Amino acid sequence: MNVTLRQFKVFATVARHLSFTRAAKELFLTQPAVSMQIKQFEDSLGVVLFERLGRKIYLTEAGRKIQQLSQDITRKLEETALLVDELKGMEGGVLNVSVASTVQYFAIRLLAGFRRCYPNVKVCLKVTNHSGLLRLLDENETDIVLMGKPPQHLDLQAEFLLDNPLVIIAPAHHPLQYKKAIALATLKDETFLMREQGSGTRSSVEKFFAENGMRVSASMEMNNNGAIKLGVEAGLGLGIVSLHTVDVEVDSGRLVILDVQSFPLMRKWYMVRRQSKLLSQVGIAFETFVRTEKHRFVKATSYTNSKGVL
Ligand code: PGA
Repeated sequence: MNVTLRQFKVFATVARHLSFTRAAKELFLTQPAVSMQIKQFEDSLGVVLFERLGRKIYLTEAGRKIQQLSQDITRKLEETALLVDELKGMEGGVLNVSVASTVQYFAIRLLAGFRRCYPNVKVCLKVTNHSGLLRLLDENETDIVLMGKPPQHLDLQAEFLLDNPLVIIAPAHHPLQYKKAIALATLKDETFLMREQGSGTRSSVEKFFAENGMRVSASMEMNNNGAIKLGVEAGLGLGIVSLHTVDVEVDSGRLVILDVQSFPLMRKWYMVRRQSKLLSQVGIAFETFVRTEKHRFVKATSYTNSKGVL
């Protein structure tokens, strides 16, 4: 039998997505290259692994068994990588960390600090929204995640990191800029630039508005905080974002934070990983660094609201 680890990896990815296109995207390959790898894998094993029904593909009985095996092989490969990592110490280790889009501003500074301590560690950073991070954890594609509160039912370990206050931002010179304790109802006709479905910020904001009987149409939806900040600055509407994402714009006067009653909405950030995940030396060093150094990397803004909360 002449199979390669590469073929196992390609097979495992196609089997997980049940899609050649999505597997190709994840593996940075073309779809014909993925099909070719699967064909060669099937030829070497002498069994058919996928069957096509209409536009969908399914695992055959043999495919399901090999999938189970490929999970064991992936696990063994991870253990081998950990062993090699341990033998080499921190030199040349890899840190796979993923963060919520809201956390990235703080996380980038944190990673820069970590790399100053461990310059030879290679860092692979993924930035995506709350539901994207849950998928990465679920599929064991990341070691450590910094994000909003994850659901409790998964095999996850979540450690509180920092408060994450959500604030309402407006363009400079907005008529409500200097008003204190603005009633929520005052904003009922405003357009809000909302984050996309799947964002933790979005679900908190929706929950808050529903609890307060406010109907907000998501007529403007943007899938990152940077676009929301630019949109607000350009006068497209108001935004609700993490305070930690707007320090530069607020301090330079390009955006203002409105002093709205019930705000900031207090969310929290957590450091999350799979309970069963074996962490490398580098992963353990990163966890310790985050725990002990986190406060150094949060930038305070000069803003305080009327309750003195911020
Ligand atoms: P998000 O971040 O709004 O970018 O998804 C927060 C979270 O993880 O809940």
